[in-house]
Amino acid sequence: MRTYLVTGGAGFIGSNYIHYMFRKYDTEIRIINVDSLTYAGNLENLQDIENRENYTFIKADICDKEAMEKIFEENDIDRVVHFAAESHVDRSIRNPEVFVQTNVLGTAVMLNAAKKAWEKEDGTYLENKKFLHVSTDEVYGSLPDDENAFFYETTPLDPHSPYSASKASSDMLVKAYMDTYKFPANITNCSNNYGPYQFPEKLIPLMINNALQGKSLPVYGDGKNVRDWLYVDDHAKAIDMVQEQGKLFERYNIGGHNEKQNIEIIEIILETLLEILPEDDPRRANVGKQLITYVEDRKGHDRRYAIAPDKIKKDIGWYPETMFKDGIKLTIKWFLENEEWMKNVTSGDYQKYYSEMYK
Ligand code: NAD
Ligand code: TYD
Repeated sequence: MRTYLVTGGAGFIGSNYIHYMFRKYDTEIRIINVDSLTYAGNLENLQDIENRENYTFIKADICDKEAMEKIFEENDIDRVVHFAAESHVDRSIRNPEVFVQTNVLGTAVMLNAAKKAWEKEDGTYLENKKFLHVSTDEVYGSLPDDENAFFYETTPLDPHSPYSASKASSDMLVKAYMDTYKFPANITNCSNNYGPYQFPEKLIPLMINNALQGKSLPVYGDGKNVRDWLYVDDHAKAIDMVQEQGKLFERYNIGGHNEKQNIEIIEIILETLLEILPEDDPRRANVGKQLITYVEDRKGHDRRYAIAPDKIKKDIGWYPETMFKDGIKLTIKWFLENEEWMKNVTSGDYQKYYSEMYK
């Protein structure tokens, strides 16, 4: 039975990945989820699987070397899937240090702990051990408004925000471990994800939540920045395929072939809400374009991200399966059915964050 160590499994993508893996492998695998439960980590995301015999949750900080080494000493870990990170660009602009701490130092601690556990005396590694570093397309910087320009695996790293700079640093550390120690790893760089359990500081869940409450929809700058949106289950599938079918030491870009301007996303959310909400639902009255409010632009706002997921398609056969029109419906339905989840994550500290961020 393969044992997975998933870091950051209580966050958005990590929890969707854990659900995906149990749906796919059921009792064939064991998953240990290590997460320090920052504002973004939420065990409610995993309630339905928390009692599985083949699942363990450990509350710990990935920067805690002793705690990480202990996990490797006590468990025969076969796969590391490293999601844990500070993940929000706006927060990184306001408070960069914690991004360096978790994303750079935390990754170094994870790499060291895995290397220590897996490396044999002759410098080779125990068989079939693999580390996958989950990264972002934001490390490549920003593309011009030219439909033919894409990020490739060979695109030089050129991060602009403290978030993307910290992720680029962690990518380089993983690369250094592969180059120097032949450490068995892969790096994946994925475009913007959307789906259930996404924290409402990111564009899509924030707009859904605000629209349902009749609150203004804050659009940064001219609203024409472009992101390439991928349904989170497709990302989970790609990670698993890279780990099992990819070539070790390779970097794979994962993208949705779904570039949209922010303003288009907001309009689609409003249309879809009106399509899905029942005629007699009182929240319908709130939903409309009058909520759209242009606000000051994000500092250093990257103009456009777009991935050409050619390599992962050619080498592994992965492609984005979920059309945006279907994925956004699934996502909005999930948020409508999980109002309690939204209430819980937006109580307390979220209010403070929101009023400071959008004042
Ligand atoms: P998230 O913010 O929703 O979740 C991050 C998780 O990491 C949380 O559960 C948090 O508690 C945990 N965490 C944070 N600091 C920790 C620490 N020091 N020790 C242990 N756990 C800690 O993030 P997400 O959107 O799920 O992103 C997951 C990963 O995927 C990140 O590495 C991110 O850079 C990458 N990524 C995200 C996107 C996206 O669109 N969200 C796209 C590409 C790549
Ligand atoms: P976000 O979800 O924060 O992801 P990222 O910055 O990592 O791509 O933002 C997606 C896009 O939406 C980005 O161009 C910034 C924009 N945006 C807004 O216009 N308003 C908002 O309130 C937020 C959170 C984002």
